[in-house]
Amino acid sequence: MNLFDVYSLYDIEPVRGKGSKVFTADGTEYLDLYGGHAVISIGHAHPEYVKAVSDQVARLGFYSNSVQNSLQTKLAEKLGRVSGYPDYSLFLCNSGAEANENAMKLASFTTGRSRILAFGKAFHGRTSGAVAATDNPAIQAPFNRTDNVLLVPLNDMEGMRKALATEEFAAAIIEGIQGVSGIHEPSPEFLHALSDECKKTGTLLILDEIQSGYGRSGKFFAHQHSGIRPDIITCAKGIANGFPCGAVLISPVIEAKKGMLGTTFGGNHLACAAAIAVLDVMEKENLVENAAKVGEYLITELRKIPGVKDVRGRGLMIGLEVEGFTGSDLRKRLLFDHHIFTGGAGQYTVRLLPALSLSTEEADRFLSELKKVIL
Ligand SMILES: Cc1ncc(COP(=O)(O)O)c(C=O)c1O
Repeated sequence: MNLFDVYSLYDIEPVRGKGSKVFTADGTEYLDLYGGHAVISIGHAHPEYVKAVSDQVARLGFYSNSVQNSLQTKLAEKLGRVSGYPDYSLFLCNSGAEANENAMKLASFTTGRSRILAFGKAFHGRTSGAVAATDNPAIQAPFNRTDNVLLVPLNDMEGMRKALATEEFAAAIIEGIQGVSGIHEPSPEFLHALSDECKKTGTLLILDEIQSGYGRSGKFFAHQHSGIRPDIITCAKGIANGFPCGAVLISPVIEAKKGMLGTTFGGNHLACAAAIAVLDVMEKENLVENAAKVGEYLITELRKIPGVKDVRGRGLMIGLEVEGFTGSDLRKRLLFDHHIFTGGAGQYTVRLLPALSLSTEEADRFLSELKKVIL
């Protein structure tokens, strides 16, 4: 059997990792500033994480959501405290798209409305509702297209207000910082206006923090830079450092009813053990503060390099454009000539999404290799 050929692959196979480094079978070392697409939050093969997951799989890897699972309540308590949302409830699932799917469904159940407002260049995932709220017709099958989703440009106050005034929308969904589009931020004024308008019109506000959350922006959630409080927050990627896991944080105003959401694998014992270990390490090693500090250093130093056209983002969620290079060319040069993994976005942007534990020395190594490529 062949693999279904949907991914463009680099001809490199990392077989082992440690912190912000990965290694191929012949021992060649690569600096990982991509984190497997913003997934590696506490670093590859962190010893505390390895022990927690290994101990759990040796004890009990899985049981269904029909019995008590105190790992779920422990994770909810910790996540509520660390994220600043102790009064919210937690629904656990398996991926980012599934988290958004459940968030939009919950908003629709709660309001009785069927429409979702999303924003230009948004990416919310590839399942049915999530891809319908994504601004990319190329990944929507005819089956996914629906009048239930309206897209207005990001930061377009008037368009947003006009749409919500119809009171047809169950929810507005917005990324804390847009990732796949190439690191674009909603302005704080826009987020405040959106939050106010949602309250006024009985619309729920969903913050998709799947890429921008979990400390990546230098605060636990990117929207916390603006001080708004959404009704629903979705997480995945960094939540379990590579173990598949998604989460929906739900405001106390939203009422749970038995059976309204569900999943076989969501919240399983291994995923919870992995997610608890991630929060423990984040707290012990002050990784949110580290992301803020090393991110600010990287952004400042990148802006000083001649030929660097644009640097966008916050913390360790950075978009970079360099004169004379497409994103793809720059990534290939960094990877094959200088052994550094980065991410792409659109034609010109290179994305940096490293582990939150990236050190200043590792940031310096990147800056010096980047200068060799472009100067
Ligand atoms: C902002 C955002 N939302 C949703 C998703 C979808 O997550 P997943 O690939 O885990 O389904 C992604 C993935 O890149 C994302 O960046």
